[in-house]
Amino acid sequence: MKEIKLSNHLLLGSATAATQIEGGDKYSNWYEWSLKGKIDRGESSIVAADHYNRYVEDIDLMKSMNHEIYRMSIEWSRIEPKEGQWSQEGIDHYVSEIKMLLNNGIKPLVTLHHFSHPQWFEAMGQWKNKKSVFYFIRFADKVVDELGRYVNEYCTINEPNVFVNDSFMDGKYPPGDKDNTIGYFKASKHMIQAHIKAYDLIHSKRKAMGYDDTKVGIALHIAYMEAKKNTFINRLGRNLYDYSFHTMFLNGMVEGRLTFPLGLFNSSNKTYCDFMGINYYSRHLVHQNLNPASLFGEVRVEENLHDSEVNDLGWEIYPEGLYHILKDNYEKYGLPIYITENGIPDTLDKKRAKFIYDHLSVIQNLIDDGIDVQRYYHWSLMDNLEWNDGYGPRFGLVEINYETLERKVRDSGHFYAEICKSKYISKHLIHQYLGGETSGNI
Ligand code: FCB
Repeated sequence: MKEIKLSNHLLLGSATAATQIEGGDKYSNWYEWSLKGKIDRGESSIVAADHYNRYVEDIDLMKSMNHEIYRMSIEWSRIEPKEGQWSQEGIDHYVSEIKMLLNNGIKPLVTLHHFSHPQWFEAMGQWKNKKSVFYFIRFADKVVDELGRYVNEYCTINEPNVFVNDSFMDGKYPPGDKDNTIGYFKASKHMIQAHIKAYDLIHSKRKAMGYDDTKVGIALHIAYMEAKKNTFINRLGRNLYDYSFHTMFLNGMVEGRLTFPLGLFNSSNKTYCDFMGINYYSRHLVHQNLNPASLFGEVRVEENLHDSEVNDLGWEIYPEGLYHILKDNYEKYGLPIYITENGIPDTLDKKRAKFIYDHLSVIQNLIDDGIDVQRYYHWSLMDNLEWNDGYGPRFGLVEINYETLERKVRDSGHFYAEICKSKYISKHLIHQYLGGETSGNI
């Protein structure tokens, strides 16, 4: 394994989302979902990692792990628990957390919608309802009023593609719809419209506040997709799936164009992203499927294996995919790239350090090849609620003991902390952390 000198321009840190780590909130749709028994083993978002009460300790941890950047989300239901009623307590909490990050030299990137929203928003049909755009923009407006002085970088909506798929096609997220193709496309359209409006709103509000350093973008899940078999029909299935899972969102959120079936004949000559946020995890092998409800393609995780290694959830570990995705999207859009998520569920912590090494190695190759990759946010800072999969998958650089809520930096977390500090993966680090099997913490 070779030493790697990372570019000094590549900023390093980690990512989380409010519902997955905070705990304590009874107004979000995921709490309601927990009460309905929809999370594995009957687990609940009410526990999480208690980050809401322990953010001071967690920021100290980030600091000790030499983070330069941190991606976090604001829980909408803490800011607007009842429709039209703002919670000063929720607002004050995020102001304190963000100020503390800044005081520690850690730059926040704030996501406004990361898979969760208030129960009242869920009850009105959430993103399927046309009015969702209005409510989301009103919330975004409030957040920028309150946080705009401290935060200049925003992700409007996290992974709208995974969100609509898991909410309306797979039934894993609230409202639990299955094969609701109309819901999939309606919600996609509203999320894209909300992003476009939020882009303009955040820019104009911060400009009026006297700032000209605003950056607004997305965090889109982009999988490296290949056809399972090299047949015409399979390639077609792959392309259709790729279109409705990736391209349709990129057309909308980057270029401001609603394309088929969301809209027709509209064009825009403006770009609605200042950076391109990409969440990358794995390669998907797509089988053809003639069912329009499943977007003509089907991803079967258990057949993605080839001879590659997989993570604890059975997803293939495929660093090369990141190279192709970033190169293609940079060539197409020319936007600076933030890797807004990349990580691995690995309870025994035997694969995470190598995973980090391999992906950072790909990123440095991309930078050497002229691709403007500016940020790497590892998913995740700490173990957390992996949505409907509950607390089973362990994505953290920091292990959470859910009995005591104690935090413990994993070996891979120490490895990453060293990289964040020196931007150099030396022979010594390779020997220490990748030489043999890393020791498990559990
Ligand atoms: C992404 C989500 C994130 C986390 C990771 C594992 O799809 O954005 O919240 O669950 O997957």
